[in-house]
Amino acid sequence: MQEKKVALITGANKGIGFETARQLGQQGITVLVGARDEKRGNEAATTLQAEGVDAHFLHVDMSDAATFTKAAKFIADKFGKLDILINNAGVLLDYTVPASAIPVDNWRKTFETNVFALVELTQTLLPLVKKSDAGRIVNLSSILGSLTLNRDPNSWIAASAATNTSYDASKAALNMFTIHLANELKDTSIKVNSAHPGWVKTDMGGEAAPLEIEDGAKTSVALATLGEDGPTGAYIHLGESLPW
Ligand SMILES: NC(=O)c1ccc[n+]([C@@H]2O[C@H](COP(=O)([O-])OP(=O)(O)OC[C@H]3O[C@@H](n4cnc5c(N)ncnc54)[C@H](OP(=O)(O)O)[C@@H]3O)[C@@H](O)[C@H]2O)c1
Repeated sequence: MQEKKVALITGANKGIGFETARQLGQQGITVLVGARDEKRGNEAATTLQAEGVDAHFLHVDMSDAATFTKAAKFIADKFGKLDILINNAGVLLDYTVPASAIPVDNWRKTFETNVFALVELTQTLLPLVKKSDAGRIVNLSSILGSLTLNRDPNSWIAASAATNTSYDASKAALNMFTIHLANELKDTSIKVNSAHPGWVKTDMGGEAAPLEIEDGAKTSVALATLGEDGPTGAYIHLGESLPW
């Protein structure tokens, strides 16, 4: 079994996932750059290798569960364990459409990637996370998944609480998975948390977002490297707890 820590980050070919892989790699952690597209994934891994990071492309397509079992076999054969799983890949579809008009197909596609695939990948890899001394699972949520803040007229996100409905609901569902899995694993050394990265300048976040990608990766990195005394079953942005 490899001594160094091993992390898999899904959707790591760009955006917050890529920067998370970079920052974990800078800490001496072996990073598996999960991506659905082989060319883009390999390019991302090559860029990180050129910066001195121990990075490897791993084909993980959230629409193809066969890639999950292949990824698990690769990790088992090469490393014998997985210390960190960052469920980062996600989609935000047709975000300006109001709740009354969002096609059900949009809900299905959103939940397929943001929830069902994430759950299946986590279940597939959990036996390898259990082989780590201190497994860490980080689920990329969003403040938009907070039921409390969507309902609060004084919250800045209340302004968008009639749109993004399928996305917001997918992140709320993911938050429930975080809580239940953390509860199930509470007597183990594994910690499971939801991260809100902030509103970040990426293809998803857009140019108007206030946070640079470097800062947008910080919450994922902190939760991936939590000490033994860190929280589990929490919903965190830059060290602060968010209301569910
Ligand atoms: N940016 C923000 O302001 C913000 C705020 C709150 C939460 N988040 C969350 O943070 C995470 C990362 O967001 P981001 O801003 O970095 O978004 P992004 O730049 O759009 O990147 C999304 C990543 O997910 C991958 N992905 C999407 N569908 C996939 C699939 N079926 N299989 C494999 N990979 C897939 C994309 O791959 P391709 O390149 O192949 O499409 C890409 O690598 C998401 O879960 C998002 O919901 C972001």
